[in-house]
Amino acid sequence: MLEDKDRIFTNLYGHHDWRLAGARARGDWDGTSEIIAKGRDWILDEMKKSGLRGRGGAGFPTGLKWSFMPKESDGRPHYLVVNADESEPGTCKDRDILRHDPHTLVEGCLIAGFAMGAHTAFIYVRGEFIRERERLQAAIDQAYDAKLIGKDNTNGWPFDLYVHHGAGAYICGEETALIESLEGKKGQPRLKPPFPANVGVWGCPTTVNNVESIAVAPTILRRGGAWFAGLGRPNNTGTKVFCISGHVNRPCNVEEEMGIPLKELIEKHAGGVRGGWDNLLAIIPGGSSVPLIPKSICDNVLMDFDSLRAVKSGLGTAAVIVMDKSTDVVKAIARLSKFYKHESCGQCTPCREGTGWMWRVMERLVQGKAEKSEIDMLLEVTYQVEGHTICALGDAAAWPIQGLIRHFRPEIERRIDSYKSARAA
Ligand SMILES: Cc1cc2nc3c(=O)[nH]c(=O)nc-3n(C[C@H](O)[C@H](O)[C@H](O)COP(=O)(O)O)c2cc1C
Ligand code: SF4
Repeated sequence: MLEDKDRIFTNLYGHHDWRLAGARARGDWDGTSEIIAKGRDWILDEMKKSGLRGRGGAGFPTGLKWSFMPKESDGRPHYLVVNADESEPGTCKDRDILRHDPHTLVEGCLIAGFAMGAHTAFIYVRGEFIRERERLQAAIDQAYDAKLIGKDNTNGWPFDLYVHHGAGAYICGEETALIESLEGKKGQPRLKPPFPANVGVWGCPTTVNNVESIAVAPTILRRGGAWFAGLGRPNNTGTKVFCISGHVNRPCNVEEEMGIPLKELIEKHAGGVRGGWDNLLAIIPGGSSVPLIPKSICDNVLMDFDSLRAVKSGLGTAAVIVMDKSTDVVKAIARLSKFYKHESCGQCTPCREGTGWMWRVMERLVQGKAEKSEIDMLLEVTYQVEGHTICALGDAAAWPIQGLIRHFRPEIERRIDSYKSARAA
């Protein structure tokens, strides 16, 4: 269990003052100019040593990503873009960082911007996050007033920070759709390559990072990459904010050590599964895009990238959605299929047509109004969508269905049998 001394987000629950004075008292903005004085290479090296993997879902190593930005400008400005779109169902961690610990992010933007040669950063905030945007803007204003950021700040790297408010579309969380949206266009993902580090916002070198990835950076650099790497497990290091929702006694966000056993996470922090651990049916461990895992796997699995991948699921955004035995699991996954169908931007055929097709079959499976052969046909369609689209929304629509069929095929078949026998009677 994570010790308080190793906690990065010390105001995650908003019990203390979120403003600059409160943030400073908790250690934010401490020695920022000294960190910058150590230079870009030192920062990149420490970030790599920390083993931090991006907290937006894909888990790409953050230090490595920062190092992809050109070392020198070819005349084009460099940009940092922070992804605060947070629309993955079950995920609500960035929201609490924005409203309760915003200075961790503001300071992180300055340092990350410096490390990548960016004098400007944009924070793209989810459309529905109105109070969060106001709180973030207030923190940015405080940092400007105290000359911590701005053209003539005391930290030695001229830096402007802008908040951009989205209109509320899940796809705008995908980094290239976000860039399009930031440019004032329809939020539709771009083909890669070119990658944003080469051609990003307004055709300039850009790095897009999740809120949590940027907000943890100042503490990592103050305490050293080795400190962060000492928490968790190799290749799965550090602390992580988990979002626990669904059928638990006390839903919550909690910062914990990577690799904590799933059962311990739920029992220690969320008051356990409603009706006790034996009443557990299944858990979606990383936001709606990752395959669910049944109780038998939940009993022993560790909460990190590699452990969850080994059981054919994923850490994703670390949003833990708990379903007890009262859950209609087929209906729950059908509801997610509807979500992905609704959020598809429609650019590529497998996703545009496939998400609707999968959702309609899922709706029939809820009632059992299908042939058993359609289960394999549905599975085959998920494989045709997965990996055949411009962005990962196609995969995200396919994986929950694959997880359902992998672990709950007998339940789907039972419904088909009972629908048939009810019709025959
Ligand atoms: C459909 C879709 C939605 C996404 N939504 C978000 C989001 O809301 N927030 C986020 O940080 N990343 C989101 N991502 C991942 C981003 O594309 C990108 O990988 C991430 O912002 C990179 O940050 P990181 O390296 O710090 O994890 C989404 C990806 C896809 C395919
Ligand atoms: S996979 Fe879906 S959401 Fe992504 S670009 Fe293609 S149609 Fe749009």
